[in-house]
Amino acid sequence: VSLPKFTLPAREPFPANVIALIGGLPDVRLFRRDLLARAYRRVLSRGVQTLGYGSEYGEPRLLRALTAHLSSARGVLAAAGELLVTRGSQMAFPLLARALCEPGDVIAVEALGYPPAWEGFRLGGAELRAVPLDRAGIRLDRLQELACRSRLRAVYVTPHHQYPTAVTMSAPRRQGLLALAERHGFFVIEDDYDHEFHWSGRPVLPLASADPARLVIHVGTLSKLLAPGLRVGYVSARAEVVERLARLRMFIDRQGDQTLEAALAEWLDDGEFDRHTKRARRAYAERRDALAAALEQHFAEGLEFELPAGGLSFWARSRLGMPVERLAELALERGVLIHPARRFAFDRRPREFLRLGFPGHTPSEIQKGVGVLAAIVKASAA
Ligand SMILES: Cc1ncc(COP(=O)(O)O)c(C=O)c1O
Repeated sequence: VSLPKFTLPAREPFPANVIALIGGLPDVRLFRRDLLARAYRRVLSRGVQTLGYGSEYGEPRLLRALTAHLSSARGVLAAAGELLVTRGSQMAFPLLARALCEPGDVIAVEALGYPPAWEGFRLGGAELRAVPLDRAGIRLDRLQELACRSRLRAVYVTPHHQYPTAVTMSAPRRQGLLALAERHGFFVIEDDYDHEFHWSGRPVLPLASADPARLVIHVGTLSKLLAPGLRVGYVSARAEVVERLARLRMFIDRQGDQTLEAALAEWLDDGEFDRHTKRARRAYAERRDALAAALEQHFAEGLEFELPAGGLSFWARSRLGMPVERLAELALERGVLIHPARRFAFDRRPREFLRLGFPGHTPSEIQKGVGVLAAIVKASAA
């Protein structure tokens, strides 16, 4: 039997035992597993309630705990029926495309962005168009052009810390984006994947916190804060959108892992969420400074970057005299993983930029990793 054409990219294997100077992975060693295990045991010892079929929206206790958290930490208000727990934010992307788009409908994405979301939207049946960025975020003139000449149903953005450049969308750009969405009648899918990690000043509140027309679909995850292996994310949006997502979800995996969700709700209610956030923030701030110091020591000339105001990575322009793709290849041979810009480019063209992340390793591991990069560059210049 021959299979039909299949265009999804294969998963890149994640190399073992490398120093991963990449943005996405939190240090799961910081996570108090014992406390989650205790909460899990408490939930199960109370009875069999979480072992049956339940709500496709999520375990009610986690919905309540997340609603309270989103309101107090982000100013995002979700009434009953406006929040859905997903298996990581990844699940939200195909569900959203399927819920919002008919054949031929378009979702706009950032020209440098998060490819797993793009594939998710395609899987849900959306056509994608890329919109360029500038220093304030996604370009509204180009988005408007697109809205005028296509059936634009939504735009997917990462306003808090643009993925992968770490730029925070400016206040005028935020207002302009919401006004444009209202004028042309499209949704704004806001991926707020690392809200907790903002270093200079206060975190900027999400688009969803000032959205009377309820055009923003706020997507979040516990992957960056806690651990990606938990597979817990969520979507907050107007009820008619969330209801569609919930119905679709019924026919994919019926419901989430209720026992885990109930345990996480206890963990959140116990205040452990805040304690963990403080711990992780302290560790990552130190690691950000360690990466900055190591880059300044070894690459004062070769890499140009600004200390990011938030997020878990640096976006650095390379003047190293060797292609960033080649540096990444040689680095991997020597046990250091870095991501060149091409990985995030909608057009798949190389650019002389690197995304360098710091959350996954201690300052001394970071120093060692950057030392390896420096040795490669030095050898190539010799
Ligand atoms: C932009 C962005 N969105 C979402 C996620 C989280 O994905 P998930 O919640 O599916 O683990 C990540 C993780 O790498 C990300 O970088």
